[in-house]
Amino acid sequence: MPQCGITLEKRGLVETSQHPIAPATGRLGVLFVGLGAVASTVIAGVELIKRGLAEPVGSLAQMGTIRLGKRTEDRAPLIPDFVPLADLDQLVFGAWDPISDTAYEAAIRCGVLDRYTHIEPIAAALKEIEPMPAVFDQQYVRRLSGTNVKPGAGKRELAEALRDDIRNFKAANDCDRMVVILCASTEVFIEPGPAHQSLEAFEAALDANDEAVPPSMLYAYAALKEGVAFINGAPSLTTDVPAMTELAHTAGVPLSGKDFKTGQTLVKTVLAPMLKARMLGLAGWYSTNILGNRDGEVLDDPDSFRTKEKAKLGVLEHILQPSLYPELYGDFHHKVRINYYPPRGDNKEGWDNIDIFGWLGYPMQIKVNFLCRDSILAAPLVLDLVLFTDLAQRAGLTGTQEWLSLYFKSPQHAPDSYPEHDLFIQQTKLKNTLRWLMGEEQITHLEMENED
Ligand SMILES: NC(=O)c1ccc[n+]([C@@H]2O[C@H](COP(=O)([O-])OP(=O)(O)OC[C@H]3O[C@@H](n4cnc5c(N)ncnc54)[C@H](O)[C@@H]3O)[C@@H](O)[C@H]2O)c1
Repeated sequence: MPQCGITLEKRGLVETSQHPIAPATGRLGVLFVGLGAVASTVIAGVELIKRGLAEPVGSLAQMGTIRLGKRTEDRAPLIPDFVPLADLDQLVFGAWDPISDTAYEAAIRCGVLDRYTHIEPIAAALKEIEPMPAVFDQQYVRRLSGTNVKPGAGKRELAEALRDDIRNFKAANDCDRMVVILCASTEVFIEPGPAHQSLEAFEAALDANDEAVPPSMLYAYAALKEGVAFINGAPSLTTDVPAMTELAHTAGVPLSGKDFKTGQTLVKTVLAPMLKARMLGLAGWYSTNILGNRDGEVLDDPDSFRTKEKAKLGVLEHILQPSLYPELYGDFHHKVRINYYPPRGDNKEGWDNIDIFGWLGYPMQIKVNFLCRDSILAAPLVLDLVLFTDLAQRAGLTGTQEWLSLYFKSPQHAPDSYPEHDLFIQQTKLKNTLRWLMGEEQITHLEMENED
């Protein structure tokens, strides 16, 4: 067939040299801020998987494959065989929590896992993990009280105490590297202000005990100052401010957040791109949940809920781009509710009612009823984030790790850009970053690249 039009040529848009990545030798210390439902479910899961008692279902870093080269090449290694990730038996866990329960007690209390199948077989390992005293202030998490709390009035002093904890944990457990991950209760809503705009302003606020500095920021500051990567799994403001990205760059460590994308938002970031791909309109999206765990109890406080609501609401605007498609998305109503309902425990039920319209404006509805398990969905995300963040650390990547957006409801992003929420773009971003790190060609899905 005669060729017409322009000829597409293969072009090296991204150079394909392998990046130097330090080997994953030695032990990787993982410190959880908050030893609650998510953290205890992660630790228990890793202990079970290490012993061959369970599979890492839900973990892309453990079970995912990655296509390399042309479709005809038939190269699709497992991700852990492609990139040098730490092995699960290299992980050493520790935590801070204002409640002094060990990981064993926390796992039983949270009621996520079956005690006899999934807790007792690894009880000894879980009992060893006792939380260090936390930096905690009820002003920021009102529905919680605890006694395992660090004394010390000054915020600077508390940050220094956390830095000591990190150093001591590293030495006591003979760790080569560390990662700190925030899995603590959601703090009240804090608007970014002058204290957050630069590292200098933040340190002045620290010294002045400014209330713009909540406990979660002290953990982040302490980790970054120690040259340790920090991940924010909660919706709290924490690292989503210029002062922290500046510090991450200065300290040369990776940073990511915020708010694990587990249930309803995971579904939302699949369905919304579908509507846009087919140019179907949206009149309204009503999302509600019932949740009965401690997270639900904390979120029952209107100021903590506001923090969560903010993280959940941004998604549709960014995916649907109302300014580009005013007829389709210029006027939709988006509501998100979380209702604390103790009988359900960690087994969250989410409902979505989506009012859409199609050809000639005819209305239709989509209903989603997701009966999920909050911490069962969150645990593999935590494992992936820890392993990929450690990889980023060894590859010398610093500052905000946008390629990990896949895991967050409200991904941190460059200040001059917008967050990427579409789940499948996020997945492509992540896999292309792994290809780039390993000196493999990007997969662009341009058909010409599959031909020779
Ligand atoms: N489970 C999910 O699916 C999911 C999804 C997205 C985000 N999150 C977020 O992850 C966080 C943890 O969720 P969870 O279900 O494990 O909650 P949880 O209530 O079971 O655990 C949180 C723990 O943090 C502790 N804590 C509170 N303030 C602290 C502080 N200053 N320092 C140290 N520890 C502190 C609490 O005592 C508690 O043990 C929450 O912010 C939640 O919103 C969870």
